[in-house]
Amino acid sequence: MEAANKGCCCQSMKAQDERYQKLADIIARYAGQPGALIPVLHQAQEVFGYLPHDVQVLIAEGLDVPLSEVDGVITFYSLFTSQPRGKYTIGVCMGTACYVKGAAAVLEELKQQLGIDVNGTSADGLFTLEVTRCVGACGLAPVMNIGDDVYGRLKPEDVREILDKYIQAERQADA
Ligand code: FES
Repeated sequence: MEAANKGCCCQSMKAQDERYQKLADIIARYAGQPGALIPVLHQAQEVFGYLPHDVQVLIAEGLDVPLSEVDGVITFYSLFTSQPRGKYTIGVCMGTACYVKGAAAVLEELKQQLGIDVNGTSADGLFTLEVTRCVGACGLAPVMNIGDDVYGRLKPEDVREILDKYIQAERQADA
């Protein structure tokens, strides 16, 4: 057990180093070019999955822009996030049809089950919870999607079973 954990740790540190090396390459490619910040942030987020503070600092230094500007761009554009994201994004539709059919109760149940608020990520790193506008499946209201899977006519009591499917799949993949 202990040996397995040590292996995991080394693997993860190695993966991290590779990510920081990729970041350095991205910054070097764009340094000195006008309008570099957004493409660099975009590519850095592809590498890390999100934009943590230390990555923001490296980008600010590498592109010679104030950290406040980096932070401002991340805050302004919703495609950027400074928070880690789960493997699966859960989107609960809060469009009118879904809202009327009880989407708020489904959302509440998800928050309870995952122990997070909207835009939060579960402690196991599996799920990020978001609300969405109408996803065009109003006939199935209330609707949520998890990754590419769509679930309709939801009731709060369906939530546990649906989440368990992903949790079980993850455990099997790790086994
Ligand atoms: S309002 Fe939810 S799918 Fe249209």
